Amino acid sequence: MRARHTALFLFISSLLCGMPSTAWEESLIRKESFGKTPDGPVDLYTITNAKGVELRVTNYGGIIVSLRLPDKNGSPADIVLGYDNLDGYLKNPAYFGAIVGRYANRIANGKFTVDGIEYHLAKNNGPNSLHGGLKGFDKVIWRAEPFTDQQGSGLILSFASKDGEEGYPGNLKTKVTYTLTDQNELKIDYEATTDEATPLNLTSHSYFNLSGEGNGDILKHELTLNADRFTPVDQTEIPTGDLRSVNGTPMDFTKSTLVGARINDNYEQLLIGHGYDHNFVLNRKGDGLQLAASVRDPRTGRVLEVYTTEPGVQLYTGNFLDGTITGKQSHVYNKHAALCLETQHFPDSPNHANFPSAILQPGQRYRSSTVYKFLAQ
Ligand code: GLA
Repeated sequence: MRARHTALFLFISSLLCGMPSTAWEESLIRKESFGKTPDGPVDLYTITNAKGVELRVTNYGGIIVSLRLPDKNGSPADIVLGYDNLDGYLKNPAYFGAIVGRYANRIANGKFTVDGIEYHLAKNNGPNSLHGGLKGFDKVIWRAEPFTDQQGSGLILSFASKDGEEGYPGNLKTKVTYTLTDQNELKIDYEATTDEATPLNLTSHSYFNLSGEGNGDILKHELTLNADRFTPVDQTEIPTGDLRSVNGTPMDFTKSTLVGARINDNYEQLLIGHGYDHNFVLNRKGDGLQLAASVRDPRTGRVLEVYTTEPGVQLYTGNFLDGTITGKQSHVYNKHAALCLETQHFPDSPNHANFPSAILQPGQRYRSSTVYKFLAQ
């Protein structure tokens, strides 16, 4: 295939980056063609760390295509759902691996008001707007620039979203940096500036199955969420505005609990979401990266810890996967085949004055970071 012939190996000089020679010798970024979209050609970047962990990212939607990690016996597996080729991602109704924006999650009735002006978005999820609209950040081509520095190797992705795009105000310049460190962390740093006030909520939509994608469901994964409260939703999955205590409900993951232990309980919120599809209000003290969630798969010993600067995390247990998507290696993805931990501002924040503001003002710089740290025990 042409993709193989165009493979290009990029080594970044240790002198320029000030890296110890052992680190750069083992850090490797490979670029190859991933095919063509109606908007132009796209590439696939393969980033490997010193421990042999391999991350593949395409600049189409900034999608994390695969992440191969060892289990407790050292056997690697790809732990994110996705497709074998670009064609699959061109549809991608489930947002596998994508960068989501401008506004991740839902905006009620596709409507919000900023500085006295009412804006209208496409209603692509019942009466609401979901994940940035018809052509959100998951469906655009990002400019990609590979790098290696002291922290690891990665990719800087940039996208300029025009004033009025998908109904949002202001010209927005967005930069998302993926860094794979030698400590088996995937760090995602988001930055943005705008020339008009705009709602902004960026996240990453990977579907994790720590047993390996296509290898059963996540109901026996053990989950801890650092959240005493969550934002309950109405029938269309829009927050009611309440910050409800998880205490005594199936939403309580303050102590490690099997994801599937209570997922089918007769609890209104679980019935609405067809499982967990909720924003949890993280217990935070001050700024900076703080532990949001930890997931352990007892079968393989793989552990995922999520650290973020964001106030919330959406736990989504793949409730809408119904066997109609065939992903990598002909694997059929059934309900609960994976879980997402989407770090974020709360859904529909522009319509809830009591939620942390998700409006970026001109002159401000949006900064948000999330670290997915992987261990095998
Ligand atoms: C988010 C939403 C879900 C669903 C998925 C994508 O997690 O909250 O309801 O739309 O994205 O399928």
